[in-house]
Amino acid sequence: MHKPLNVLGLETSCDETAAALVHLDAEGKAHYLADQIYSQIDEHSIYGGVVPEIAARAHVGALDALIERALTQADMSFAALDGVAATTGPGLVGGVMVGMMAAKAIAMAHDIPFIPINHLEGHALSPMLAQHGGGEPLTFPYLLLLVSGGHTQLLSVEGLGQYTRLGSTIDDAVGEAFDKSAKIMGLGFPGGPALERAAKKGDAARFSLPRPLTGKPGCDFSFAGLKSAVRRTWEALPVHDDQARYDLAAAFQLAATDVLASRTVNAMDIFAKTHGPRPLVVAGGVAANTALRLRLMVEAENKGFEFIAPPLALCTDNGGMIAHAGALHLRAGHKGNLSISARPRWPLDEQAAKTLPASGSGKKGPKS
Ligand code: KG4
Ligand code: ZN
Repeated sequence: MHKPLNVLGLETSCDETAAALVHLDAEGKAHYLADQIYSQIDEHSIYGGVVPEIAARAHVGALDALIERALTQADMSFAALDGVAATTGPGLVGGVMVGMMAAKAIAMAHDIPFIPINHLEGHALSPMLAQHGGGEPLTFPYLLLLVSGGHTQLLSVEGLGQYTRLGSTIDDAVGEAFDKSAKIMGLGFPGGPALERAAKKGDAARFSLPRPLTGKPGCDFSFAGLKSAVRRTWEALPVHDDQARYDLAAAFQLAATDVLASRTVNAMDIFAKTHGPRPLVVAGGVAANTALRLRLMVEAENKGFEFIAPPLALCTDNGGMIAHAGALHLRAGHKGNLSISARPRWPLDEQAAKTLPASGSGKKGPKS
């Protein structure tokens, strides 16, 4: 039995401003009390990508009202909070500072703990929050495929704060490859969802695209060559019509899915040697992609792993995952101090990261 906890979570590391309240009950079950989010898509779309300065200003403009709305939604006052968590990295540092400073101010004014959260950890633990909505709760250890705009990693999640990286991208993140490929084809912003919609109407067999590292041992990823092939293929086309867009989008999505699936299959083999078959979990913005979810479900089934994907709203950036990670850390007795700084780069597996190549080790840049 634990002391029940109410935690406010703030997320401002990229182009979503979010405030959410999570209640961790005496049995350790998490409950979503409130979830407020403001997406800055309209502010960035004319630039075709996230502009850090605009993002930071928009967070400043939106955050206070979101916090107030979250408290109203949960019928709660600041006095009922046991802690306040905020993303303190990795991410666009101007934006990260907005949420972090707001959380520190609330912590100071209401004399409650401030809990700094690694954005990647929020994603990594988000399927546990989703599972608490119904069904059997997800328990450690599990294999995580983390796919977002700034990261592509396979991690063995062994406990709170215990993450072992099995592989990561050696160049671009897969979300970045989706976004840039969408931009090349003129599919609009944000690119990932637009590309998925286009791919549904396309014939993937019309174009042959590379699948970097597929069939090789190991769990690292590479997407730069695939993105360049999309550019070359697009530029070589005599007619740039909608059907060409749909077909190339379908070919790209299939190639990207093949790469992710083949590296995840290798990771399941490695993970199973230590832990046996356990859940395979996908998280991060690209986990919202239906083709990827279906493909991973099949691969997991083949290996005897249960497949878990959070609901779409928990895949992309949100405040609930930060509040939830904050509540787990608070329950474990971890608190931050008010002198902590924002960290634009912050690998989840800090120790191992020192021996790994720098790329993919915590960078989260503009999604342009
Ligand atoms: O986790 P997230 O919201 O933000 C980061 O932490 O980066 O992920 C955003 C990324 C973007 O690259 C976006 O294009 C991609 O997730 N994304 C998708 C889909 N929805 C979002 N990619 C493919 N298919 C989707 N349906
Ligand atoms: Zn994210």
